[in-house]
Amino acid sequence: MSVDTVSSSTLRDLVRRALKPVVFILCLLPLVWLIAQGLTGGLGANPIEALIRGLGDWALRFLLIALAVTPVRIITGWLGIARLRRMLGLFAFFYVMLHVLSYVGLDQLFNLARLWDDVVKRIYITFGMAAFLMLIPLAITSTDKMVKRLGGTTWRRLHRAVYVAAIAATIHYFLMIKAGYTEPMIYAAILAVLFAVRLYKKWA
Ligand code: HEM
Repeated sequence: MSVDTVSSSTLRDLVRRALKPVVFILCLLPLVWLIAQGLTGGLGANPIEALIRGLGDWALRFLLIALAVTPVRIITGWLGIARLRRMLGLFAFFYVMLHVLSYVGLDQLFNLARLWDDVVKRIYITFGMAAFLMLIPLAITSTDKMVKRLGGTTWRRLHRAVYVAAIAATIHYFLMIKAGYTEPMIYAAILAVLFAVRLYKKWA
């Protein structure tokens, strides 16, 4: 074996081993940034609203990033990226949880009657709640043990609900704003492309 072959396989091994911890740290950066902004007055005149919105943005972004893993694998042929899927999905759920908790805790002060009122009266909250509730069983069944217990086919079928959750979350965003639809339109377009790649792979 030549020195070149040894060094390139060592480098590949290093990248393979470093990938997960590096991505883990990168996934925490938005939270660190939001906390730093909160502590230094960078969240503006209404910090609670800015925090809820910032966490909501990252929740949706991570949902799309997690959904992009399989299409990226299909397009690039990079099989190793599949190892990141579970972690990215759980980070999406983590940011969704923080988004919902900051709304329920900081905005509604844990008044569950008011929260329920919001869910039934404000249609964008209804969609957000639907997306959140759909993600809970997916997070619970994300372990190897649950994959085994459910069986691969059932597990995959169940986890397709993540697309429905992402669509509901994007509608939640559209309904929430009154002007400036560019950002939710970008998310909707990304979602459509990711879905199209999957469908193409299935039917091609
Ligand atoms: C998968 C679940 C969810 C995702 C991905 C999500 C994402 C988002 C996004 C992207 C925004 C807009 C942020 C911006 O303006 O830049 C937002 C706003 C908001 N979301 Fe969610 N959301 C989810 C679930 C929920 C739930 C369950 C609730 C409440 C029970 C909720 C309450 C809110 C509120 C109150 C705002 C507006 C904040 C404000 O302007 O005062 N969201 N969400």
